[in-house]
Amino acid sequence: MRQQPSSELLRVENLTKIFQIRHGFSTREFRAVDDAAFTLTAAKPEIFTIAGESGSGKTTLARMVLGMEQPSSGILQYKGRNIADLSLGEKRAWFFKEVQPVFQDPFAAFSPLKKIDHYLYETVHNYKMAKKSETDDYVNEVLQQVGLTLAEVRGRYPNELSGGQAQRMAVARALLTNPSLIVADEPVSMLDASLRMSVVNMFRDLKEQQQVSILYITHDLATAYYFADRIAVMLRGWIVEEGPVEKVLGSPLHPYTQNLKESIPQADPDHAWSSEVDLAILDTDEYTRKGCRYAGRCPHVMDVCRHTEPPNVTAQGRTVKCFLYTEEHAADAAPVQSAVDSSNH
Ligand SMILES: Nc1ncnc2c1ncn2[C@@H]1O[C@H](COP(=O)(O)OP(=O)(O)OP(=O)(O)O)[C@@H](O)[C@H]1O
Ligand SMILES: [Mg+2]
Repeated sequence: MRQQPSSELLRVENLTKIFQIRHGFSTREFRAVDDAAFTLTAAKPEIFTIAGESGSGKTTLARMVLGMEQPSSGILQYKGRNIADLSLGEKRAWFFKEVQPVFQDPFAAFSPLKKIDHYLYETVHNYKMAKKSETDDYVNEVLQQVGLTLAEVRGRYPNELSGGQAQRMAVARALLTNPSLIVADEPVSMLDASLRMSVVNMFRDLKEQQQVSILYITHDLATAYYFADRIAVMLRGWIVEEGPVEKVLGSPLHPYTQNLKESIPQADPDHAWSSEVDLAILDTDEYTRKGCRYAGRCPHVMDVCRHTEPPNVTAQGRTVKCFLYTEEHAADAAPVQSAVDSSNH
């Protein structure tokens, strides 16, 4: 097997997931994730956020990275190895240990009938993470990384925990296998606003202190701006802008990212996306549209956008999938360019 340089933790290349949907008596295909590409380095842990409105393909992408969903095409490599080539045994013994999920609803991961510490002991046992005599010490040490102790949670049932404690437990369970990557899909969206920042800060501490990289999926751009290193913005299966968070959200280039940023009311960082109202109507039409999937909503739409898929352009320290930043069309893009340039000075 060809090994990638060990400097890569995760490589996502041309990753595509095609779903079929029924339309009356016929079925129609659409690309819920279309040609996604990004890499996470192994050299330095980072928080890579995937943001985008509802139905843009974030969860589908996360499920493929976790090995829970089979890609239709494309490459997924973890530490230089193709996930598709791993046997079930290798997946269990290595991949599922290294790449751990944290989901939106922390209570869904725990049966209400089982004591919560049962899950911790089970994980330590299944993955042989500690000798029997050292299990309590190991579990306690990991719980401390998420701000809990074994004494606090021992013998308790899930319904005795707050939402914030349950999500910390879910993260502790993920950490027990000593993963290098955590894939967290909207992990704070079901928590009270008052608890969210403490859980978000916990993820940041884990990156810094435990050297875990985090693929963090969120609707919430304000949080992403606060704690992510890089961001990929998804629109109808496409990554339309990707790069360092201070560039992409500080001075967005894609008209969709610009719209998302403008739609965050300053006084209400919990607010998600203003454009969500229209989504039901736009849903599959935008996925299967010819040309740019944002053409129907874009204030800077040009003729070319209506019939040709935009290329990925490298511009101002990020990648942007938009004709406005191609050399041949830049002249038509004067209003956007000047607005962005002036905000940079
Ligand atoms: N198993 C499936 N079969 C068919 N379509 C699916 C399936 N899973 C997801 N989809 C569709 O794929 C698209 C992307 O869904 P996905 O759940 O990945 O979006 P999302 O960005 O995570 O949305 P949200 O923010 O609401 O969680 C949606 O149109 C969804 O309805
Ligand atoms: Mg989702």
